[in-house]
Amino acid sequence: MFVRFEMERFQSIYENEVDFNLSDSGNHPMSINDLLDKDEIEKFLSMEIYYGYTQGDPRLLKVIKDWYPNTNESNILLTNGSAEANFIMAWTLIKPGDEVVLVLPTYMQVPGLAKNFGAEIKTINLKEELDWHLDLNELEELVTPNTKLISICNPNNPTGAVMTDEEMTAIASIARTNNAYIHSDEVYRGSELGGKETRSFIEFYEKTIVCCGLSKSFAHPGLRIGWLVANEELIEEIWAHKDYTSLCASVLSQEIAIKIMEKKTRSQVLSRSSEMLKNNLKLFQSWLDSHTGLFTFVPPQAGGMAFVGYAMNINSMELAHKLRTEQSVLIVPGDCYGMDGYLRFGIGSHADYLSQGLELVSKGIKSIGC
Ligand SMILES: Cc1ncc(COP(=O)(O)O)c(C=O)c1O
Repeated sequence: MFVRFEMERFQSIYENEVDFNLSDSGNHPMSINDLLDKDEIEKFLSMEIYYGYTQGDPRLLKVIKDWYPNTNESNILLTNGSAEANFIMAWTLIKPGDEVVLVLPTYMQVPGLAKNFGAEIKTINLKEELDWHLDLNELEELVTPNTKLISICNPNNPTGAVMTDEEMTAIASIARTNNAYIHSDEVYRGSELGGKETRSFIEFYEKTIVCCGLSKSFAHPGLRIGWLVANEELIEEIWAHKDYTSLCASVLSQEIAIKIMEKKTRSQVLSRSSEMLKNNLKLFQSWLDSHTGLFTFVPPQAGGMAFVGYAMNINSMELAHKLRTEQSVLIVPGDCYGMDGYLRFGIGSHADYLSQGLELVSKGIKSIGC
């Protein structure tokens, strides 16, 4: 039976229908006026809207590869969002009966795809008591020479946990010993709250496929720009699959993406994201503190989201619908991750918007007697 992507459907149905959308895990987007100067806007308006290069505009491939040490343009393939990157990675690599190890919780796209492509699934959970890190001994026992692929989201959605260099080295070593691929969804890389940028898995292991894009740390989901980073042979194989999907990304989006990924703008956009998140996390923490005993929380190290456990006698999906219908505020229920008892709050919006949304959540939980 076809496994539906319930989490994405839940968000896309309701996120534009509520007054306060706290379900988004990215940063508040910028506008073309914020990004481009007058001359650039003039040039943009005169562009002829051809098809783009299927691999990606060479100028864009260059500024993307500059973000990954020791790579060149032939290691990059441009996609429509990291969602397409994840899709063509899974379509290329996962065949019926292949063993896939999923690190959970995660964005639920690859778990759903792996099931739909007929994989044998093994799972391992990040542990709350380890601040949402992995027990590496457990991973070592789980991965075998039969494992085709280990799928990771780092920085992690929904917990915001970030793996250390030592953890990535150890995971790469487990993968190498068993000749498994690593899929690393790194769409939250660059929005760290502590200043130190997460290293990409591509630096640690030659059989890594990185999926990334401009939607989260780079705050531009509407451009639908994503990419894969992998060795040349893998890029070639995945590209052969992409020829059957979207052909190329929009030339208009690519033009803006070139500006975003240029070194200077890239660090400005990422600093903006990190600053917003740092301030919003303080605000969120004091909101949690005002509800003594109700929530457990390991603060995120990156990404526009806060994953909290709650002590209320109500199912998370039921609670999310109650808040949506009665208070017009949307949050993601833990049920979307198979983790009832948890909620994911988006903390990447403007501070006053976040405060007002949280006030409504307070009202909603008061109304159920908590
Ligand atoms: C971890 C992760 N990967 C991929 C995506 C898809 O993002 P996009 O296709 O907008 O780049 C999301 C969206 O929430 C995500 O959280």
